[in-house]
Amino acid sequence: MTTETQTVKLCDVESLTSGNITTADIDGRTIAYARIGDDWFAIDDTCSHAKVSLSEGYLEEDDLVIECPLHGASFSLETGEALTLPATKPVASHTVEVRDGEVFVTIEGTEA
Ligand code: FES
Repeated sequence: MTTETQTVKLCDVESLTSGNITTADIDGRTIAYARIGDDWFAIDDTCSHAKVSLSEGYLEEDDLVIECPLHGASFSLETGEALTLPATKPVASHTVEVRDGEVFVTIEGTEA
């Protein structure tokens, strides 16, 4: 279980083009991260409704939302909030920073 805040490099900016989402494994925790234009977002990859990878879902760029591939619940890429049923609980969201062409995510606190 992760208990400390940590900042780790996800990738180089050029490695992910706009409109795409992928994952990184950070100490056993799978993070889904997306690029939309020059904005980057990171949330926990596992849907809060069942154990499905959100990164395999549908990225809705205009709304900054990822739609779960199994039952279609939508989650905010900005906050991790569950926006539509059947999911009712959020997934954790994480701060992403771009520095000198590299993308970093900060994972805070204890894993839920
Ligand atoms: S597993 Fe994601 S909405 Fe059901």
